[in-house]
Amino acid sequence: MQIQRVQLQQHGDERGMLIALEKDRNVSFDIRRVYYLFATKNEVHRGQHAHRHLNQLAVAVRGSVTFLLDDGTGPVEVVLDDPSQGLLLGNMVWREMYDFSDDCVLMVLADQLYDPTDYITNYDEFLSEVKSPLYRGELAACQNG
Ligand code: TYD
Repeated sequence: MQIQRVQLQQHGDERGMLIALEKDRNVSFDIRRVYYLFATKNEVHRGQHAHRHLNQLAVAVRGSVTFLLDDGTGPVEVVLDDPSQGLLLGNMVWREMYDFSDDCVLMVLADQLYDPTDYITNYDEFLSEVKSPLYRGELAACQNG
């Protein structure tokens, strides 16, 4: 699958660094929710779900974390360890997060409010939905504008 990283412009000077996240400048969607994970235990795997409609941008603002992403074509690992790099998490992508460093703060921007009904938490169900003619048809319609 295609991994979409977003390089975030750093405004640095002798005082330190600053990065701004702004719709249309470096975030491609309406930001309706921000949440962050911290104090995650090192051996923990989080995520383990896909979203039917939600699009997100993840930034490890401190520390490091590994993502496993799978759009139905097989898993790809991505390490986030740079506060100036975002990772786009599109809809219908299975994601897991693990190998959190002790100091990891993972911030996530989302284009929808929290909605538990948008989650697919069973991998086999995700695979059958992502490969279904209905979803393939919706995807093709989106890609053709
Ligand atoms: P969960 O979805 O299990 O986190 P992850 O997928 O990262 O492992 O969320 C943990 C808890 O936080 C769960 O009780 C739902 C709640 N939650 C919210 O209330 N709002 C949110 O925006 C999110 C992402 C989670």
